[in-house]
Amino acid sequence: MIRLAPSILSADFARLGEEVRAIEAAGADLVHFDVMDNHYVPNLTIGPLVCEAIRPHVKIGIDVHLMVEPVDALIPLFAKAGANLISFHPEASRHVDRTLQLIRDHGCKAGLVFNPATPLEWMDHVMDRLDLVLLMSVNPGFGGQKFIPSTLDKLRTARQRIDTHAKETGRDIWLEVDGGVKVDNIAEIVAAGADTLVAGSAVFGAPDADGGYRNVMRQLRENAAGPSRPPVRARGAASLSGR
Ligand code: DX5
Ligand code: ZN
Repeated sequence: MIRLAPSILSADFARLGEEVRAIEAAGADLVHFDVMDNHYVPNLTIGPLVCEAIRPHVKIGIDVHLMVEPVDALIPLFAKAGANLISFHPEASRHVDRTLQLIRDHGCKAGLVFNPATPLEWMDHVMDRLDLVLLMSVNPGFGGQKFIPSTLDKLRTARQRIDTHAKETGRDIWLEVDGGVKVDNIAEIVAAGADTLVAGSAVFGAPDADGGYRNVMRQLRENAAGPSRPPVRARGAASLSGR
């Protein structure tokens, strides 16, 4: 069972309420909410006020991905604005353990985000504070970039560490991938160990007028299930690939 988290970075910001309702209706598990500060990354997006504004439009969780530096001051604001998960880049926090604790203290699930060149060792001493590990498969800052293939090996390593931790503690940590996830590469990404997939341009690139979001998400799930396994959560209608 995988989770799909469409990134609203590629949504129509002029109709954001409608857009998040549409992805929920189309079967999304989470809303992925990209926060960029023009400091940690060279782009500027949305903050707690926008999170608060979309909150009443959906029941699904809001997965806040902070690409900001510093991190801590924004955590209480996003928690108050209705975030369910908050993840941040370890390079952007002076005290990673403290920031993780702060997120949980505010009632949210906590995640660490690894850029393509960020080593997984950042998780070594904080596994018990993690609910989510997010591997970037592009350099953060923009939607619509190409998936970096070395992420697959990194995913396998992260999967092993998470599985070992689960065996020792009985606690599951989600493994999310963000950047360049498409219908034609989701199978190998899931086979490498991801259980939560962010997809921005893949989902919002399809006009929703004719059920586009639903079709893309159905295809993502079917392909994620792989050729040898039965389709996951097939929703009745025939898929685009005819399977
Ligand atoms: C990039 C963001 C991603 C982005 C993904 O910095 O963190 O969430 O929106 O977009 P796609 O799926 O288009 O690569
Ligand atoms: Zn993101």
